[in-house]
Amino acid sequence: MSTAQIIDGKAFAERLRARVAQFAASFEQAAGRKAGLAVVLVGEDPASQVYVRSKGKQTVACGMASFEHRLPGDTAQDTLMALVDRLNADPAVDGILVQLPLPAHLDEQAVVARIDPNKDVDGLTPISTGRLALGLPGLVPCTPLGSLMLLKDRLGSLAGLEAVVIGRSILVGKPMVQLLLGENCTVTVAHSRTQNLPDVVRRADIVVVAVGRQEMVKADWVKPGATVIDVGINRIPAAGEGKTRLVGDVDFAGVAQVAGAITPVPGGVGPMTIAVLLRNAVVAAHRNAGIALDPGAL
Ligand code: GUN
Repeated sequence: MSTAQIIDGKAFAERLRARVAQFAASFEQAAGRKAGLAVVLVGEDPASQVYVRSKGKQTVACGMASFEHRLPGDTAQDTLMALVDRLNADPAVDGILVQLPLPAHLDEQAVVARIDPNKDVDGLTPISTGRLALGLPGLVPCTPLGSLMLLKDRLGSLAGLEAVVIGRSILVGKPMVQLLLGENCTVTVAHSRTQNLPDVVRRADIVVVAVGRQEMVKADWVKPGATVIDVGINRIPAAGEGKTRLVGDVDFAGVAQVAGAITPVPGGVGPMTIAVLLRNAVVAAHRNAGIALDPGAL
């Protein structure tokens, strides 16, 4: 029997997209053009292709213009940098996302750093990262911001709570730490070298897990009543020839007996990422066009 509240990220993301669509429509009225989001995909990684297709569809469904650039897996660094330059200069493009990971021969850091910080809807440029660390307003990475939205929806104020973030990636763990600090949590960052990880996790009121290891966090690691945010998406073999299914980084069945609330996989954090991307795009469009937007409304 499950005791935890199941946090419905899919429903929350739908509501967020509906608000984004309203702001996209009022932007179009005020600016005389649609807000535009450009997505760059290099190579043929199947998971990335699924994400990019989904991003394009949802961008259009929200009333924004979608620009997709698909480049072959052997694209040269200079070619990619030149594309970023063109998108930076294009007035129809308000947001630029380069899908990660890039093929190994490309310098990911250099490509990301080339993106105009005003169009950095992924919040990954050094400027955006620095602004987040300084507590200045700016664009924030989508998955951690979506996770924070779910936490605040469930808990209200996070001030004074013990938060443990497992994982220190650029895309999730590090920005998540900054966001939780910004909410006045006491934050611990755990990672692959952390000793006695179960003991560290056990003190947390909030656990955010983003490591990419299937069902790693077990029920006896979790403090009763804690809120657990599972960012992991792991595809594993399922019963039936060639079948697969998705599981998170948390042993959902076990942890749901102990936690106060938990995000499922799928249907938890996953749907939030694209919804926040669209939110960031419409926010960037307003800022870049000098059109006022109540930041609290999104
Ligand atoms: N690959 C997986 N998640 C993301 C993301 O949020 N942004 C980018 N750019 N690439 C990703």
